Amino acid sequence: MERSYPKGTKRVADSEIEATFIVHHKDINGENRLFGGRLMEWIDSAAGIAARRHCGGSITTACVDSLVFKHASRLNDIVVVRARITYVGTTSMEVRVEAYVEEVATGERYLINDAYLTEVHVDSDGHPQPVQWGLELTSDEERSEWAGAKKRIANRKQRAAEGF
Ligand SMILES: CC(C)(COP(=O)(O)OP(=O)(O)OC[C@H]1O[C@@H](n2cnc3c(N)ncnc32)[C@H](O)[C@@H]1OP(=O)(O)O)[C@@H](O)C(=O)NCCC(=O)NCCS
Repeated sequence: MERSYPKGTKRVADSEIEATFIVHHKDINGENRLFGGRLMEWIDSAAGIAARRHCGGSITTACVDSLVFKHASRLNDIVVVRARITYVGTTSMEVRVEAYVEEVATGERYLINDAYLTEVHVDSDGHPQPVQWGLELTSDEERSEWAGAKKRIANRKQRAAEGF
């Protein structure tokens, strides 16, 4: 049974964020590609903002799951990072973050990175706190993400139990 949420529900769209960056010289590695650590910083920030919007308070990142670099990005590229809540637990929220390069001539986007992060709502001492808002699922895609999150949680628990 799902838990109840004292303050009601928010929609995915209420906390979704889209952040846009230019790849500068300070962001590239020795191969003239976007440094993976920089992209991970943008992804972590985007996930944190979406989670803070959803829970209405402070968060900390507990876990980065299934982070996949699909394509490289290069100097001067426009990178769009999109983050949206996929699941709300007791104190945690899962956030999917997709990163794209946007072709400036056409506006088309291609996916360069996809990741799921678990953000935990915490008090000022860093202790987990219940998330007061549930998630209202308004589309099949959102329902599918929620079901996927439950599988990822079950997989993590199994990995922890088996110690790998
Ligand atoms: C994340 C943290 C607050 C969890 O604290 P904890 O004492 O383990 O808390 P709990 O075991 O009660 O877990 C709290 C929630 O986090 C989830 N969680 C904890 N560890 C997790 C992990 N490794 N992966 C995914 N979720 C995790 C739990 O499933 C639980 O979710 P739920 O309440 O929705 O069911 C603590 O481990 C921590 O402070 N870690 C360091 C965070 C950090 O410094 N991040 C980088 C900078 S932002």
